[in-house]
Amino acid sequence: MKTEKLFVDTNKPDKGIILRAARYLQKGELVAFPTETVYGLGANALDAKAASKIFEAKGRPQDNPLIVHVSSIEMAQELVLDDLNDYKWLVELLWPGPVTIIFRKSRRIPDIVTAGLPNVGIRFPSHPVAQKLIEIAGLPIAAPSANLSGRPSPTDEFHVIEDMDGRIACMLLAGKTLFGLESTIVDLSRGKPTLLRPGPISVERLKTLLPDLEVPEFVKAEEKYSGPALAPGMKYRHYSPKIELILVEGDPRERYKEIITFAFEKNSIILCSRETEHLYPGEIKRRVLGSRDNLYEVAANLFYALREPGEEFERIVSEAFPETGVGLAIMNRLRKAAWRIM
Ligand code: TXA
Ligand code: MG
Repeated sequence: MKTEKLFVDTNKPDKGIILRAARYLQKGELVAFPTETVYGLGANALDAKAASKIFEAKGRPQDNPLIVHVSSIEMAQELVLDDLNDYKWLVELLWPGPVTIIFRKSRRIPDIVTAGLPNVGIRFPSHPVAQKLIEIAGLPIAAPSANLSGRPSPTDEFHVIEDMDGRIACMLLAGKTLFGLESTIVDLSRGKPTLLRPGPISVERLKTLLPDLEVPEFVKAEEKYSGPALAPGMKYRHYSPKIELILVEGDPRERYKEIITFAFEKNSIILCSRETEHLYPGEIKRRVLGSRDNLYEVAANLFYALREPGEEFERIVSEAFPETGVGLAIMNRLRKAAWRIM
């Protein structure tokens, strides 16, 4: 399939270009598009056949549900059984923005979109291109991240081209995404509001709005994979870099000698912070993800580092980061991506 690539300006998206992409969605074709988190791979959420193409293009298992993107709270209301007036204070503070909320789904959403679940994740993105695309198409858009299944989510246009060129009808390309990590997911369809995936909107912030928010242990992604020498392939692969990734837990100022030892065993690149870069000998290659004082900077650079470590390297050795604020999401993604956690 020939993929039509449409380049747009994030802040002033050209209406004619968006309309061109919207036409593909209306015809049941797939369109990749930028959001403030990562690029999405979109299809008409009301069309089961269109949605099924997403699973095919990504190589995604059909038991993994899709998030449905909307461009207004009214549009969201049409897709869920819950009365959004009951959550007005919440949705008006969090939307548009990088938060997906799970509600009970209406029958308008085909089962394939939610993998048969009675609930649906709804997201109202703040990215101007995403909003305009949904508005102009006049449709809710089902969209997972626009990566091949198992790979890190695309945070720049060349990542989308790398994974999806030739597999989909159209891509809207608008450079780098803002947060570089997928949305925070909160489930409101159970008894207690529950965090399902940490993301750019932190637990600390959510708890000011939802004081009884449940934060299950699994969001740390520690359980199955912690401990030494977990063989690659044994674990569920996610965000996988093409080469081995060793994550060294704890404070790098206490564990830098181990990081150096791992880095010397093979031709390695160290992922580190600006504050700790000086701990490593000059002959070891390193990539500074950002400052420990601004974990949003680290988040925005993380998937680049996992996706393109560089051909010359055989191993990535990564520092850990504090699990406060967006740091919880950073550590969740790093642990899921790691081949070994030490
Ligand atoms: O930032 C994001 O959320 C991006 C952009 C494109 O919006 N999308 C994204 O989608 O990350 P995806 O499919 O890569 O991740 C969505 C996650 C999956 O792990 C899925 O299992 C979960 O959300 N999910 C979706 N619907 C759900 C539901 N009804 N119940 C529980 N989990 C759900
Ligand atoms: Mg994904």
